[in-house]
Amino acid sequence: MQQKIFIKTFGCQMNEYDSNRIFDSVKKIGYTKTNRYEDANCYLLNTCHIRDKAKEKVYHEIGRVKKTFRYKEKPLVIVTGCVAQAENDEMLKREPFIDLIIGPQSYHKINDTILNFVKKKKKSDETDFDAISKFDYFNKLKNSANKVSSFITIQEGCDKFCHFCVVPYTRGPECSRQFEHIIDEAKNLAESGAKEIILLGQNVNAYNSENYRLSNLILEIEKIKEIERIRYTTSHPKDMTEDLIEVYKDSKKLMPLVHLPVQTGSDRVLNLMNRKHTIKDYINVYNKLRKINSSIKFSSDFIIAYPGETEEDFNFTYNLIKEIKFINSYSFIFSPRPGTIASNLDLIDRKISHKRLEKIQELLSNNQIQINKSIENKIIDVLVENQTEDKKKLFGKSEYMTSVIFDGDKKNIGKVVKVRITRSNRNTLIGEMSENFNQKVA
Ligand code: SAM
Ligand code: SF4
Ligand code: F3S
Repeated sequence: MQQKIFIKTFGCQMNEYDSNRIFDSVKKIGYTKTNRYEDANCYLLNTCHIRDKAKEKVYHEIGRVKKTFRYKEKPLVIVTGCVAQAENDEMLKREPFIDLIIGPQSYHKINDTILNFVKKKKKSDETDFDAISKFDYFNKLKNSANKVSSFITIQEGCDKFCHFCVVPYTRGPECSRQFEHIIDEAKNLAESGAKEIILLGQNVNAYNSENYRLSNLILEIEKIKEIERIRYTTSHPKDMTEDLIEVYKDSKKLMPLVHLPVQTGSDRVLNLMNRKHTIKDYINVYNKLRKINSSIKFSSDFIIAYPGETEEDFNFTYNLIKEIKFINSYSFIFSPRPGTIASNLDLIDRKISHKRLEKIQELLSNNQIQINKSIENKIIDVLVENQTEDKKKLFGKSEYMTSVIFDGDKKNIGKVVKVRITRSNRNTLIGEMSENFNQKVA
């Protein structure tokens, strides 16, 4: 009988990448993918632990699946990702419906773990930190993604230990993939139709493998003819080294949106967070990049109401957003993570926290609306990713990662085309493509 796997993914782009690679692996032992979890022989939940009630969300999800299978044969249930790593065998004890726990650095063991379970019906948790073995394993498996915009994980883990963050505990120490293996994967993806490569890592700009840095990777991927656009995420301000800044001078394919999380506009709070940089350092990077290319824009992540944040600290954040005019940014109220240094600190009053978040989100939203408005009646380059769900229009991204929806022929999927923007809202640019002004962008 054919085995079907259903994979549900929470969390960041690295989890999305991992889920695809997990599928590349289990294909080898006879699994095909299903989009209906009710039909699955194997239900895999790839989890995220970054904030909120992450753990409870997982148990809730598993509870829902359990109900569906009350009168049917139970699927093999696997929990992977950052909650799996943080909770390990606790999950097997609390929810007997779960069969296997596999942490993010143990995915290379997934086929053997499944086969072993099928044979012996013995539950297990695989939560060692072994990124090198994982990278070695996946290097040998073709990445079957065939998307116009494709991810490649180049680095895992984090050594920075910001006091609020769970990542160093769930993903382990920083570890970089070998340069040649990344280039090979990029070439394979290009052959399968990728036009954009997004390089991923929890600290992507800390990439360092035998003295190759992120800058070397970008310039090498740039040589792949089919690749039109290169992006990387997520970066730490401390690792915005001169060589990486210089790439913005030399590269024609590196997009002018820099996602550089600052978290707060207050030096005092940055220090409390153990972020290891100041606002002056951050603005310095911003100014250097803008000097190289004045069309560069920044996006960021903000943590609002970090324990100890005063009204004055909050105003520094507010003013920084006004000054830099961030676009496409994320903001969340601080969420205490078990096991982190900040987990025991006194929280800011709930009402005040929400008020501050609302204020920040309104400002970010206004920035976005204004920037999108300023593009109306202009012609911009759009990488066409697909048709919209109803197949009536095309959908793609601007250079700044803003979604663009427009009329056009599906033969343009995978091309960079010129689109005249006619309308906009906070999240989307709407426009029309004209064959007359459509030329491929170098
Ligand atoms: N490595 C990146 C950096 O240092 O900027 C961030 C990676 S983290 C996976 C993504 C974002 O999650 C962070 O930038 C931060 O804003 C947010 N985050 C992490 N821990 C959080 C927490 N405890 N509460 C709220 N937001 C959190
Ligand atoms: Fe988390 Fe990023 Fe800080 Fe690492 S640098 S601990 S991933 S926020
Ligand atoms: Fe979440 Fe782990 Fe990514 S905690 S954000 S899935 S690194």
